[in-house]
Amino acid sequence: MKIIKEIDALQSIADYYRATFKTIGFVPTMGFLHDGHVSLILNARKDSDIVVVSIFVNPTQFGPNEDFEKYPRDFLRDFHICKSSGVDYVFLPERNTVYPENFLTEVKVKSITDRLEGKFRPGHFTGVATIVNKLVNIVKPHYLYVGQKDAQQAVVLRKMAEDLNLDLKVKVCETMREETKLAMSSRNSYLTKEEKSEASVLYEALTEGKKMINDYKVTDANAVMKFIENFIKRKSKNLILQYLAITDNYLMQEIEDLKNYEGEVVISLAAYLGKTRLIDNIIFSYK
Ligand code: PAF
Repeated sequence: MKIIKEIDALQSIADYYRATFKTIGFVPTMGFLHDGHVSLILNARKDSDIVVVSIFVNPTQFGPNEDFEKYPRDFLRDFHICKSSGVDYVFLPERNTVYPENFLTEVKVKSITDRLEGKFRPGHFTGVATIVNKLVNIVKPHYLYVGQKDAQQAVVLRKMAEDLNLDLKVKVCETMREETKLAMSSRNSYLTKEEKSEASVLYEALTEGKKMINDYKVTDANAVMKFIENFIKRKSKNLILQYLAITDNYLMQEIEDLKNYEGEVVISLAAYLGKTRLIDNIIFSYK
């Protein structure tokens, strides 16, 4: 496994593999890797000849009062995880390699990014779309792997790839969960054992919501959301819901009544547990 820090070096490596008809699978990350990332890497390993992982805590996707400074970082640990998962190249750029002085360009996916996460984290998805666009121009992958855990990020990146005719396929991989069913996230390192167990109520509530729709055939999205909200309130003293939405999985538009709807449904939420902000979702086909 090689660590690459310079853009032109990785671009030359990518050109070589593309010229020799090898496929490149790419997993962009902000490091502090967990089993969710490992699952993305293993999927990439299965599909591609060459696997590239990037590790870069991207400042432009954090708001001014968010946790950029305190975001967990441990490169040595990440290095071992990448090596033992079969990664070929780790891209580990410095901040000024990615954003040199006078960097002026942004990639903005409109409309989808005004809702849900975007509403509470203005500018977040522009930061994500810009960095991922840059990274795919550097890594030149055939496949880009992202997790379903960040449902809206996956939708935004898929739309960006579609709209900008990126020469790659976005592959969205299943959310990995801890034993308690809490969705794996680097930010779970902010939680105590007790908090982790309390946070698992979120997925329990989402699962109950899905049951209401699929098993009990409730089509009124507001009724389902009210139920989920009450479920969380009943089961947890400390979880504070920030948003809850039932949407499609293409533009993340809210579905009011599922009666005439057909396709993938995503129930997404964000909640605070103390100072830690958690997101989770459940996705399923309807009808
Ligand atoms: O999901 C993440 O870790 C980040 O948003 C990503 C895709 C690596 C971009 O910085």
